[in-house]
Amino acid sequence: MLTPIDYPISLDFDAENGTFEPCPQVTPRHLSDLKEMFSDQSTVAQILRENDPLIYEIRYYPFTTTKSDMALAVTRIFPGTIGNEFYMTKGHKHQREDQPEVYYCVRGEGFLPLDTLEGEFRAIPWRAGVITHIPPMWAHRVVNTGNDLLVFIGVFHLSAGHDYDIVARKGFAYRVLSRNGKPELIKQD
Ligand code: PA5
Ligand code: NI
Repeated sequence: MLTPIDYPISLDFDAENGTFEPCPQVTPRHLSDLKEMFSDQSTVAQILRENDPLIYEIRYYPFTTTKSDMALAVTRIFPGTIGNEFYMTKGHKHQREDQPEVYYCVRGEGFLPLDTLEGEFRAIPWRAGVITHIPPMWAHRVVNTGNDLLVFIGVFHLSAGHDYDIVARKGFAYRVLSRNGKPELIKQD
């Protein structure tokens, strides 16, 4: 039996803005929250001396019931670069080994880098309308290579957990860098 009484839940989603109502939790990620993820550390330090730009925001809705823990996350990544590296999410691997995720690109363009952190890497070219299944044990992040907002939806189990440390330690095999404004995948040493 599914208690509490206010199920089922529907949300009012604005696909242009990447916002929905009601929204119980908004998590902003500023440069200082993911500074170690960018390659150009001297530019990171220089920017942080002046300000701390908002790179992306996550809106969560935990669809928890007494028997399930599915969650919705809508992420809005702003356009921009740090040095020549496009704005991107921090990136993580799920803590549980049996937990996949579905990502849906609602607006914008970019890449979805996927990495086992054990030798296998893919970079999925991303644009509005693409839905990607992220298999368990693949680290994932999203890179906004466009001049506009990138919005995507993620659906996952809350119990999946987010391991950010492993990404900070090992890093993705390739970075998405801007050359003359165009994205290029550059292998990391
Ligand atoms: O669960 C997910 O994969 C997403 O909702 C992400 O958490 C979200 O896009 C933000 O990225 P990160 O958690 O890497 O900061
Ligand atoms: Ni995830």
